[in-house]
Parts: sequence; structure tokens; C-alpha cells
Amino acid sequence: MGVMVCEEQRVHISDIRDLVRAAFGQNDEARLVDRLRDAGALPVSMVLVVDGEVVAHASASPMSWGSRTAEILVWALAPVSVKPERQRQGFGSRIVRATIDRCRSAGVEILTVLGNPNYYGRFGFTPASQHSLRIVDANFGDEFMVIELSEGSLSKACGSLRWHSAFDQLEED
Ligand SMILES: CC(C)(COP(=O)(O)OP(=O)(O)OC[C@H]1O[C@@H](n2cnc3c(N)ncnc32)[C@H](O)[C@@H]1OP(=O)(O)O)[C@@H](O)C(=O)NCCC(=O)NCCS
Repeated sequence: MGVMVCEEQRVHISDIRDLVRAAFGQNDEARLVDRLRDAGALPVSMVLVVDGEVVAHASASPMSWGSRTAEILVWALAPVSVKPERQRQGFGSRIVRATIDRCRSAGVEILTVLGNPNYYGRFGFTPASQHSLRIVDANFGDEFMVIELSEGSLSKACGSLRWHSAFDQLEED
């Protein structure tokens, strides 16, 4: 089995769209990826390819501070998708780890994710609320999580964050 993880290429875009739609069982997250890309706000978009087939995708986009306490670079990991028939075979973990590494290399100091703590905890994500970080005007409890990619950044960060405006339309689709 030939497994490759790499940055998305133009040739992957329609496969990514199909894969994200299939993973979530709806169009919203696939449209989100397209909107982020169109807005130039998809600095990291990784694919995992097995024997030529795009099996998993994960991307990250810049967040902004609602109330800023420090100049800290924060990106959001979203969405993460694995083809339904390929789930629970380790591909999700592999692409999440590759995306975290890519974000770290890009100089990201804190990466956030909204998801299941049982899943994302294994990568080192912890609830953002433990670090006085939250989303502007929302409370996602322990599902909004963060991981520190640059030592000391979490101890300096405090306040509220916004996803890129492409996320605003998520509920309107
Ligand atoms: C969530 C998802 C990315 C995980 O990918 P995957 O390749 O199936 O996961 P892995 O094989 O790497 O890991 C499997 C482990 O994750 C757990 N897991 C899988 N999906 C999970 C979920 N939604 N919530 C909690 N745990 C989950 C499994 O129970 C398994 O645990 P174990 O290792 O203790 O047995 C994938 O299931 C998916 O695309 N789901 C639909 C889209 C989605 O919900 N994305 C995440 C939100 S952005």
C-alpha cells in the first residue's frame, strides 16, 4: 500500500470536495474549504493519498483576536475528513499529526480545533477554557481545544478568538 501525505495540489481539489462531503454527509464543510481557498485563507491543506486515491484531508486557517492581549499567531484546524469506508484505520490520526507539524513549521504558535476531546486529546489538544481562551460570543465547552506549537505561547495568550469570516456562512448554507 503506497501512502503519501502532501500539500494539496490543484489536481486534488475536486477529490477533496467529494471526500469532505462524504465524510460529513453534507455539503457545508466542503463549501467551507472552497470558500477558505477562494479567500486565500487556506495556508495549510493536506491530503493523504493511498495508491493514488485521496482518502483523507485536513486544513488549517488563520484566526483573529476579538479582544487581543498579545500578538500570537493562532490558526484553526478544520475540517478533518476521512473517507467513510477508510475511517478507523489510522488515516485521521496520520493527517492530523502531519497538519500539526506543517502548522508548526509555518510558525503557528497555537492551533485550535472544535471537536471531540476524546479524539483530539490524543494529539495533545486540551480545552481552551483551561487557558482563558474562547470563541467570541460562543461557548463550546471542552469541545473548543488548543495545542501549543511554540513554547510559552499559551501562557501569554488570553482572550477571545474568531474563525475566518468564511466560517460565518457555515450555518447559512
Ligand atoms: C473523525 C475522523 C477524522 C477520524 O478519522 P479516523 O481515520 O476514523 O480516525 P483514526 O483511525 O485515526 O482513529 C480512530 C480512533 O478515533 C476514534 N474516533 C473516530 N472518530 C471519532 C469521533 N468522531 N469522535 C471520537 N472519537 C472518534 C475511534 O474510536 C478510534 O479510537 P481508538 O484508537 O481508541 O480505537 C473521521 O472519522 C471522520 O472523517 N469523521 C467524519 C468527519 C468528522 O467528524 N470530522 C471531525 C470534525 S472536524
